[in-house]
Amino acid sequence: MSEKPICIADFEHYAKAFLGKSVYDYYKSGADEQQTLAENVAAFSRLKLYPRMLKDVSSLDLSTSVLGQKVSMPICVAATAMQCMAHADGEIATVRACRSMGTGMMLSSWATSSIEEVAQAAPEAVRWLQLYIYKDREVTKSLVRRAEKTGYKGIFVTVDTPFLGKRLDDVRNKFQLPPHLRMKNFETNDLAFSSEKGYGENSGLSVYVAEAIDPSINWEDMKWLRGLTSLPIVAKGIIRADDAREAVKHGVNGILVSNHGARQLDGVPATIEILPEIIEAVEGKIEVFLDGGIRKGTDVLKALALGARAVFLGRPIIWGLAYQGEQGVKEVLQILKEEFHLAMALSGCQSVEAIDRTLVRREQWAASKM
Ligand SMILES: Cc1cc2nc3c(=O)[nH]c(=O)nc-3n(C[C@H](O)[C@H](O)[C@H](O)COP(=O)(O)O)c2cc1C
Repeated sequence: MSEKPICIADFEHYAKAFLGKSVYDYYKSGADEQQTLAENVAAFSRLKLYPRMLKDVSSLDLSTSVLGQKVSMPICVAATAMQCMAHADGEIATVRACRSMGTGMMLSSWATSSIEEVAQAAPEAVRWLQLYIYKDREVTKSLVRRAEKTGYKGIFVTVDTPFLGKRLDDVRNKFQLPPHLRMKNFETNDLAFSSEKGYGENSGLSVYVAEAIDPSINWEDMKWLRGLTSLPIVAKGIIRADDAREAVKHGVNGILVSNHGARQLDGVPATIEILPEIIEAVEGKIEVFLDGGIRKGTDVLKALALGARAVFLGRPIIWGLAYQGEQGVKEVLQILKEEFHLAMALSGCQSVEAIDRTLVRREQWAASKM
């Protein structure tokens, strides 16, 4: 691409042209027919903004806090696995970009850089670990201990992946890691998803998950995790009000309303549609975050208006990495920050606290008044 990218879609166009097919397919795919993948983005368009005027927006404050950590904006980075396929610097580039933008990064358990390498690359960055619960609880426990030791500020435990969703392209491509890469948090070829192991005719990753990840996890395991660490715990992937109330009961510190970027159960609603129910269910007792389909500053504004404390970005970060490593991720974050700044200004909000529910209405509401 000869012209400089100026919006998130531009970065994706570049990544699509630049990355190998199997790698691009892995990053972009949703599960099955990808209905939810389209919904995650489309649902934002159905929400209409009702801005306030004459509010002196000459100076704005975008900063907030996430689990007690100060961040420069309510836009953070979600866990996406195996980032070294997008750029040789992978997760190291991402954490450095987050540090320079003053925001937080959630590192995947399945990273191609280790917990320690990422900590060392940006010790002062706000970092959280995304945790998969392995059948081998000692492996799971050691991930938590390593995160504690190296200054991670919380654990996002993924609750929506007892098995991997069926991503058709990955099955067709027999997706696996290229031979020079491994999941760096693990020693053995089996746990490191090494191509040396061989994964046959299926999506290699779905075979990996079936072998290593515990499908029996339940609320007792949340109790176990709560007892294991004093770090804040966020349940990543809750999309029902009753589950949200259960999560509060089990002492979690936050919920990330997420459908895993539409990669697990196809047919679930867009996360932005579910957010109000979850906000109501938790009654302000814990922090609620959202990911899925955030591509523009106005999406961030809508999510905050409906009660999210912050949002997380998945694929946009991968597209930035593919474009230009650390610099590319920085540009993605910078563009979203500028767009969010503009959206706040044009809706009369001087600070994130001023973003309230009345800024957003559903399309049908507007139609019913005509
Ligand atoms: C390529 C890719 C890899 C992902 N890897 C993980 C992971 O390792 N752990 C996890 O909990 N979620 C993972 N996710 C889900 C993201 O954390 C996040 O929920 C989702 O990407 C947000 O949607 P978005 O991509 O539309 O921004 C992954 C998503 C993508 C696209």
